[in-house]
Amino acid sequence: MSKGFSETFLWGGAIAANQAEGAWNIDGKGLSVADVGLYKPNVDVEDYEGHQAISSKAIEVAMQDRSDKNYPKRRGIDFYHRYKEDLALFAEMGFKALRVSIAWSRIFPTGEEAEPNEKGLQFYFDLFTEMKRLNIEPIVTLSHYEMPLALSAKYNGWVERKVVDCFVKFSKACFLRYKELVKYWLTFNEIDSIHRHPFTTAGIVPDRCPEGKEEAVVYQALHHQFVASALVTKDCHEIIPGSQVGCMLTKLTTYPNTCNPEDVAVTLQRNLHNYFYADVQVFGEYPVLIERMLEQKNIHIHMEPNDREILKQHTVDYVSFSYYMSLTESAKEGLERTSGNTIMGVKNPYLPSTEWGWQIDPVGLKISLIELYDRYKKPLIIVENGMGAVDQVEPDGSIHDHYRIDYFRAHLQQMKEAVEAGVDLFGYTSWGCIDLISASTSQMSKRYGFIYVDQDDEGNGTLARSRKDSFYWYKKVIESNGQDLD
Ligand code: BG6
Repeated sequence: MSKGFSETFLWGGAIAANQAEGAWNIDGKGLSVADVGLYKPNVDVEDYEGHQAISSKAIEVAMQDRSDKNYPKRRGIDFYHRYKEDLALFAEMGFKALRVSIAWSRIFPTGEEAEPNEKGLQFYFDLFTEMKRLNIEPIVTLSHYEMPLALSAKYNGWVERKVVDCFVKFSKACFLRYKELVKYWLTFNEIDSIHRHPFTTAGIVPDRCPEGKEEAVVYQALHHQFVASALVTKDCHEIIPGSQVGCMLTKLTTYPNTCNPEDVAVTLQRNLHNYFYADVQVFGEYPVLIERMLEQKNIHIHMEPNDREILKQHTVDYVSFSYYMSLTESAKEGLERTSGNTIMGVKNPYLPSTEWGWQIDPVGLKISLIELYDRYKKPLIIVENGMGAVDQVEPDGSIHDHYRIDYFRAHLQQMKEAVEAGVDLFGYTSWGCIDLISASTSQMSKRYGFIYVDQDDEGNGTLARSRKDSFYWYKKVIESNGQDLD
């Protein structure tokens, strides 16, 4: 007998504070790393590193600019003021859950205040209260590319151990205030992304690192995040009995380009690295192969005497991940490459791509679910999945986003098969369920939502919300608990 999604399956969507809230400088909020993220039009899909580059000079320029013209994350989609309207639309679709993040710099504007900012705390209290009223379960990320800019300036972000204390203080303030409202927590969004965009993820500015030591610095900062994650997992369990804390990884499923063992070997290496982060957070220790790799690179992570014990003691309850695309790897140089989620890989001839070059691979989602469940044997949740696309608004205001429906249908079909195969999956929150600002390019035109937001890349528009065709489709999916994907 086939076993479908559980009756309590958490269907919903996901957003992040820095890409949706706007209100970047009101009610006491401090600047975050996201507020200096420059708008990058004319994206070259062959050059993701170009989009992620940051320098001390660029930050200085951004700090002197008090407008949101070139820094779209400052304005977001004004979720800060419109969240009630947005939640009502999510409720209309039947959402059981919504993944949001808490902007750290709303609670501790510079990260180092003695007391939290009451207005910031109250905003999320009201948000979660409204979600509960609508029977939408909050799934809350503590760090989603939005650490206080002041911590980046003072400590080069997570490079210094001091930031662990700041994060623990921030997290504790959240647990204490929201203990009656939030059961599901995530510590770091895509913790592995520290290697791909160290500034966004960890406040690290490459030109402030000792020359030739950038990689070592990133591993040190990552270690601090691992320790911080374990410490806040402990606090969360103590402060909120029954709470569930998860890790979150970018599932960059990578295939060998051919069955040539050389291709298989480089792919294996890449996948070992992809798994390393969740390995630490689930098993509570660094994988032996990674420790050896670090030694060979002459990278020595400084650990406090009880760090290994902390990691071992406070592992996560579940594994969450984002899945957008898959990659191909080859031992051969010179093959055609394409971009993925802030990464490049060899182009896979069997897969179509989005306008941003991300290769669409629904079967890869099933493969990912099976791999992750087999490896970790922990409950899983997909907390991001979706397709960035340009939408066309018809003269009557309708938006016929059949491409998005096709993308979701194919992915949900594979997800269903993985569940039928025995994977313990307890939820699915699609990314950017309402259009928001892109993380990598700060474009508005790269849309993921079931709900359209009237705003262009320059910030023109009424910000009015409207339902796309995919809105009605997803509503039906949720109503039928994933049975009706037509
Ligand atoms: C994920 C991030 O990696 O990808 C999100 O967690 C991001 O913040 C999403 O928005 C899609 O990426 P992009 O660059 O298209 O916004």
